[in-house]
Amino acid sequence: MLRPFPEAFPREAGRAHWNCRRNLDYKIGSQSAPSFIIRSSVKRIKVRVKPQSYDVLIGAGLLRHAGREVRRVLPSKGSRVFVVTSSNVRKRWGGVLEQSLQRARLPYVVLEMNDGEPAKHLATVEQLAEQMVQAGADRKSLVVALGGGVVGDSAGFLAAIFLRGVPVVQIPTTLLAQVDASIGGKTGVNLKGGKNLVGAFHQPRTVLVDPDVLSTLDDREFRAGLFESLKCGVIRDKALFEFMVRKSPQILQRNKAALQKIITDSIRVKAQVVSADEKESDLRRILNFGHTVGHALEAATGYSHFLHGEAVALGMIAAADIASSAGICPQEVADQIKAAIQAYGPLPKVTCASDAVLSRLSADKKTVAGAVHFVLPQKIGKVKITSDIPAEIIKRAVEQIKNYA
Ligand SMILES: NC(=O)c1ccc[n+]([C@@H]2O[C@H](COP(=O)([O-])OP(=O)(O)OC[C@H]3O[C@@H](n4cnc5c(N)ncnc54)[C@H](O)[C@@H]3O)[C@@H](O)[C@H]2O)c1
Ligand SMILES: [Zn+2]
Repeated sequence: MLRPFPEAFPREAGRAHWNCRRNLDYKIGSQSAPSFIIRSSVKRIKVRVKPQSYDVLIGAGLLRHAGREVRRVLPSKGSRVFVVTSSNVRKRWGGVLEQSLQRARLPYVVLEMNDGEPAKHLATVEQLAEQMVQAGADRKSLVVALGGGVVGDSAGFLAAIFLRGVPVVQIPTTLLAQVDASIGGKTGVNLKGGKNLVGAFHQPRTVLVDPDVLSTLDDREFRAGLFESLKCGVIRDKALFEFMVRKSPQILQRNKAALQKIITDSIRVKAQVVSADEKESDLRRILNFGHTVGHALEAATGYSHFLHGEAVALGMIAAADIASSAGICPQEVADQIKAAIQAYGPLPKVTCASDAVLSRLSADKKTVAGAVHFVLPQKIGKVKITSDIPAEIIKRAVEQIKNYA
């Protein structure tokens, strides 16, 4: 659905002072809310990639200031903004973004795509590109992705290929997209033959993370995102892992301070890894902890039984079992990981046959030279990548995840 460029924008109800340094007070004025001052800390994390590094900004209420941040990264003065979102997300948060774009005097068009994994395919990208052409998009246009990972991946890919590349700003609205999908520049869509098989690396100009938008996210989606945060703790940040163990009740109740902390710390882990290794070769592979078996589970169940984060949680349980059985970590470490995952459950029961999961494992696109590579914990905060695992140990770990629910 296309929205015309607004001819003239209503004047701001109040002057917004939005500074981009760390931990500033800022004054919010919007058409829907009276002006008032909020003390809030906005964190800034730099992702150092070529050719252009970018900032991830994290702060409660940040969506209301998105217009100013988008303006800051506009390719040129006359640039137009194309917001890609879904009707579900638009209904909840589109108004806040639109008001903010209006206050920043930015001409924009809203393009809607369907939600859900089946919408993440080439035809969607083609339709969006056609709509952009009809609305007069050019090389100076900028795409804003407002939504979960499905919107982010599709809109990111659209930006990567439209006129051979226009800039994109990611505004992730699910926890999973905030701590994972929106950062790192991986964009793409699915083919009938598999997930994410067509895509491109296209780093965003900036990523705007507002934890407040998670207030409307349903519980299951929220918990699915928490598993990716736990993953960040296990692979590189012991303090984050321990915080998530200690504060699970507060986190599950979406306590604002706790949530802001785990989002920031998870993003820091992803940003560090991506900065060190932009094009998934070595270090970046540690982000796949839990994903080897996780992807196999998703594929074996037709991508409809588990949410991505849930499959990753089960994959982390399998990886912990494999690591302890293979003598890579003590049993105690595996038990800590499994207990932390259970605290953020329940997880859907594994109903598919173990053989189906095992055969998908060897078909994973991250298989290198025929060997299945596992990211395995050595201790909390440190993992190693290995393909040298006896088949019997893998089989037993996959069979055991059937016991978790
Ligand atoms: N590019 C990457 O590096 C990367 C990393 C991880 C995952 N992914 C991809 O991300 C996708 C999954 O993303 P996801 O978990 O965000 O799921 P999603 O995008 O399918 O969103 C899940 C649901 O939440 C709804 N939603 C979104 N924001 C909401 C909000 N604030 N309030 C209420 N409802 C809201 C959506 O409408 C949707 O129904 C997968 O396609 C996966 O492949 C990409
Ligand atoms: Zn993931």
